[in-house]
Amino acid sequence: MITPDQLRSKYLDFFKSKNHAVISGKSLIPENDPTVLFTTAGMHPLVPYLLGEPHPAGARLVDYQKCVRTGDIDEVGDPAHLTCFEMLGNWSLGDYFKKDSIAYSWEFLTSPDWLALDPGKLSVTVFKGDDNAPRDDESAGYWKAVGVGEDRIAYLPASDNWWAAGPTGPCGPDTEIFYWVGEGVPPAGSNKGTDPANWMEIWNNVFMQFNRIDEKTLVKLPKQNVDTGMGLERTVCVLNGKTSVYQTESFQPIIAAVEAVSGYAYGTDPAKDPSVRIIADHVRSATMILGDPKGVTPSNVGAGYVLRRLIRRAVRHARKLGIEGGFLGKPAAVVVDLLSGAYPELAENRAKIIDELAREEAKFLETLQKGEHEYEKMLPNLLRNPQKVMSGRLAFKLYDTYGFPIELTQELAAESGMTVDLAEFDAAFKKHQDLSRAGAEQTFKGGLADQSEQATKYHTATHLLHKALRMVLGDHVAQKGSNITAERLRFDFSHPAPMTPDEVARVQAIVNEQIARDLPVTMEMMNLDDAKASGAMALFGEKYESVVKVYTIGDFSKEVCGGPHVERIGTLGKFVIQKEQSSSAGVRRIRAVLE
Ligand code: ALA
Repeated sequence: MITPDQLRSKYLDFFKSKNHAVISGKSLIPENDPTVLFTTAGMHPLVPYLLGEPHPAGARLVDYQKCVRTGDIDEVGDPAHLTCFEMLGNWSLGDYFKKDSIAYSWEFLTSPDWLALDPGKLSVTVFKGDDNAPRDDESAGYWKAVGVGEDRIAYLPASDNWWAAGPTGPCGPDTEIFYWVGEGVPPAGSNKGTDPANWMEIWNNVFMQFNRIDEKTLVKLPKQNVDTGMGLERTVCVLNGKTSVYQTESFQPIIAAVEAVSGYAYGTDPAKDPSVRIIADHVRSATMILGDPKGVTPSNVGAGYVLRRLIRRAVRHARKLGIEGGFLGKPAAVVVDLLSGAYPELAENRAKIIDELAREEAKFLETLQKGEHEYEKMLPNLLRNPQKVMSGRLAFKLYDTYGFPIELTQELAAESGMTVDLAEFDAAFKKHQDLSRAGAEQTFKGGLADQSEQATKYHTATHLLHKALRMVLGDHVAQKGSNITAERLRFDFSHPAPMTPDEVARVQAIVNEQIARDLPVTMEMMNLDDAKASGAMALFGEKYESVVKVYTIGDFSKEVCGGPHVERIGTLGKFVIQKEQSSSAGVRRIRAVLE
């Protein structure tokens, strides 16, 4: 038996023994990256370093990172997919490459001193090759050298073995490691290529050698990097001889809490079990998102919208188990207890998590009531329809206007012996989705962590703005969020009231005065304590390494920051604040451009 806490420690200890510096995982909400709503991998906060910036902790790094991926939301409930998971990661920033990476992984997995997994139950995949890069015989060779049989190596195409976090950014071929979750022992010839259902992926080693600039352009990175990610929940699963993450200590106590409120015994009805798993997954993700220091709350946009969907989907599945009222606080409290050791912010935000869940649940239950009420008003008319079919257009209206889920419309219709015209509903729904997707693609345009020159300028302008705000409004101003594209900056900061036009004008003038002075930007690495003592601004609630980079702009501003920045600020152009508005309670938002 190995617990998640033990696996986390072992992973860090192993890579420490291989001279890796332990760095801390970051917030679930990415800084300065407009292209994704959540941190989706351990490498995400490290993108600038994978692209070539020096990292203050060195060229060998290891950490654990909370991640949210909602692309997999429809697969949640199967044995391996989760919307929130922990990634154990190690990196080489231009230090070791394929050979050592593969040897380290194998040693950690199979050595009796570490995880002691049965080598006979492991298999791997390597990149098959295409126009971008040749077949990765080199990696296959290193696997054979540590003892992996040829029949346990599958050569797969880019869809399986080329990893990129987004449409642009660092990427490369990868090699993935799988554990046997089938019956007995794997037969000869079985691997991920021949027998995919029986192998569970536990670790991915990416050999990041390229930067994708756009659809057509792939450039070689200055250094060859390694980026690995081990799925903590899945690895705990196979280490304990289980075949589903829901059977592990990460989920059993959450499932027990759902059983207690519903009175349903998990495992007794195959029609109900997926709902239990979905609730367990979603409440865990919602708790992690609400407990993040960056403080997302349910809303109709961005990360807040994902959070809202997770909570509402959990409530919907709870109704399938016969849970009528609010209940999420109970399993959420269990999540806080399970994960606070690794993520103390959860315990710190316990009250907020429980309150927000209760508030959103109540709101959704009200929505459901309203929808039911509207449906009842429609009913006499519906019943006149001799075919007993409710039009998809009406079902879509309930969904669009009242947020009433289609599954519930179907359930209500069934109670009156009716069906819903799903084809018509789907058509209306698709049209609506296409519109919102067009919006989402706009967000993607910049590519992952847009490192373009213009984005770098905006990044430097953000430091100037931060300082100018503190000069004009006072020292209570603290950065709450930053979002940069090649077209504009957006800066969220704490301040209790709307800024007056005069304050906005003064802030803008100060920034432009500094730009006119063409101050130099310099970078120094120092201990975090020294950096703070030197007056460098650091973000409250952010986890920093013990050694950090401090960017100084002339005599004007000093901030702890990963970079990159321009060398002299005279190149920024004219700074114009376009908008000052509310972001959330006690937080203001400025949108500004460089002209
Ligand atoms: N970044 C790689 C992944 O997420 C390791 O799979």
